[in-house]
Amino acid sequence: MQDVSKDLKKAKNILEEGGVIGLPTETVYGLAARIDIPSAIEKIFLTKERPFFDPLIVHVSTLEMAKKVTAYWGPASQVLAEAFWPGPLTMVLPRDASVNTMITSGLETVGIRMPKHRIALNLIDVAGVPLAAPSANKFGKTSPTSANHVRTEFQKENVFVLDGGDCDIGIESTVLAVRHGADTVQLSILRRGHVLKSDIENVLKSAGIKFEFVETTDKRESPGHMKHHYMPPVPLIVVTDSKIQPEQAVQIANSKMAELPDEIESIKIIKPKNGIHTFQVLKLSNDPLLATREFYGKLREVAALGSDCILFYRDVGQVGERWESLFDRLNKAASLIL
Ligand code: TXA
Ligand code: MG
Repeated sequence: MQDVSKDLKKAKNILEEGGVIGLPTETVYGLAARIDIPSAIEKIFLTKERPFFDPLIVHVSTLEMAKKVTAYWGPASQVLAEAFWPGPLTMVLPRDASVNTMITSGLETVGIRMPKHRIALNLIDVAGVPLAAPSANKFGKTSPTSANHVRTEFQKENVFVLDGGDCDIGIESTVLAVRHGADTVQLSILRRGHVLKSDIENVLKSAGIKFEFVETTDKRESPGHMKHHYMPPVPLIVVTDSKIQPEQAVQIANSKMAELPDEIESIKIIKPKNGIHTFQVLKLSNDPLLATREFYGKLREVAALGSDCILFYRDVGQVGERWESLFDRLNKAASLIL
């Protein structure tokens, strides 16, 4: 165990000097910087090798902080914050003019969340300003759910990591765009997560707030939502038909891999160098909460075993909103879906 108060002080100092640190949260680890130091925000993008078009989430420890970074904090945001914060819900709201446009990638909105992790909340408190933090992985790669994942990912950059143990939830927060209208609130789920659409509906209904969900297909509104993401260093193949035996899946994959483009939306598609000869099977718990918690860690472990591909068999029983949140990540991490 690290000495938490000493480490908090160290993290606070690094942040004040314009550095970035590894931040534990309940979802995944973040790569954090102070929102009021532009060079530190730039450092997040450079360290992560993330394109500047993909906006960062602003992490707060109090509702006052959240209100300060938004131009309009309406009744729906208040109700949702009271119900789900601290917790894995990011709300996309109108940006206050004081928020650096590098954080929001030039958008007029800002993504905000209050993480449910003692160390994260303490650090934001001692920093005295919100911290911008994307997940602490290189752009397009598998997200980190332990301090060691972050240390390994940024070994070269020597990033200091606050160790908060393994992440409880294991996938990133739900991202929800909240648009307050004259008498109805328009909502769009930009990224699925632990907070489900049904949870949001229930909370707003009981608060008597009029709302509607709308699908967003407008890339400008959600520039960070790529077809691929979270990719492990060896190709992941998701098999949706249990009749396809592993050897057969490998054979099909070998014939299809060559047709795949090298890159989709700036994300490099992972392909085997000399064809697929060996495979490992990724196995997850039957409980969707456990499966979600262990997903990124197991994906990293299986990838490190050194075979040519990873197979994941999707079970017909794995249905429902929770599984959908996990499959969103699995499918994006996959080079192929059979
Ligand atoms: O659980 C999480 O959300 C983690 C932890 C560290 O808090 N963070 C995280 O950050 O997953 P990141 O950068 O990997 O993903 C943030 C997503 C991106 O897809 C980005 O496009 C979207 O949130 N986002 C952020 N601000 C936005 C905005 N103003 N409008 C639309 N989407 C936004
Ligand atoms: Mg990410």
